[in-house]
Amino acid sequence: MRTVHSLKELRTILRGYRRQGKTIGLVPTMGNLHEGHVSLVRKAAEMADVVVTSIFVNPMQFGVGEDLDTYPRTLAEDQDKLASAGSTLVFAPSAEEVYPEGLAKHTQVVVPDVSDGHCGASRPGHFEGVATVVTMLFNMIQPDLAVFGEKDFQQLAVIRKMVRDLMMPVDVVGAPTIREDDGLAKSSRNGYLSAEEREMAPAVYQTLQATAQKITEGHTDFQALESEAMQSLARAGLRPDYFNIVNSETLKPASPEDPEITILAAAFLGTTRLIDNLSITR
Ligand code: PAJ
Repeated sequence: MRTVHSLKELRTILRGYRRQGKTIGLVPTMGNLHEGHVSLVRKAAEMADVVVTSIFVNPMQFGVGEDLDTYPRTLAEDQDKLASAGSTLVFAPSAEEVYPEGLAKHTQVVVPDVSDGHCGASRPGHFEGVATVVTMLFNMIQPDLAVFGEKDFQQLAVIRKMVRDLMMPVDVVGAPTIREDDGLAKSSRNGYLSAEEREMAPAVYQTLQATAQKITEGHTDFQALESEAMQSLARAGLRPDYFNIVNSETLKPASPEDPEITILAAAFLGTTRLIDNLSITR
């Protein structure tokens, strides 16, 4: 497995693969890899001949006061995990390579509607940063397919709409959320949690499950379920950001007859923001 930092070198290598008729799968990441990321790489390796994993902590998607500077950078460990998961190449560009003129003068991709609400409301500019860097990675790598985790449910919806609207020739593949034994969704940000916070963190998934059970049992007052869940998260010592029961396609408030419903949740434990979701098919 090779690691390349420059776009020029990346393009030369990929040209060679393409000439041999090989298909290319992309797994975009910000590094500090865990089993969730590794599952995406394995999936890409099953579906494409060549797998490129990008590692880039994208400054455009971080807000003021967020964790851009402290976000864990662990390239050597990440390389070991990627080699055994079946990645062919690691692309780890610098911020100067990606944004040579700086962020302020850079073109942005805006994906309306699905970017509104939920994380988009709490993190203004976040999904513009994600859509822009993913567009650039698609243009740099020109993959046949790209794999994203359902853990970031709204992000996946934003990317699917962007690809559809802008007719990007990339198959977007979703992959299920990988969890710790106690249900906590794996996340690079879990490493920020103190031992005490780590014990409280499974409350997010437990609350999602309890709400999903009530919906399955026939509860239809979703607003009441949402505020109950917010209270239950607060009682468990978390600071809930949002807890929204939505139509899985539109991400707008669900109605009881929707065929697929997703519950989206975000909560703070200290300064760490955790997100998770759970889909219910009836
Ligand atoms: P990052 O948080 O590093 O996540 C990279 C990919 O891993 C995303 O598709 C995310 O949904 C997926 N992922 C994270 N935790 C997961 C888990 N527990 N189970 C399954 N998949 C999981 O998401 C980003 O980076 C960035 O926004 C990016 C798309 C790279 C653009 O900068």
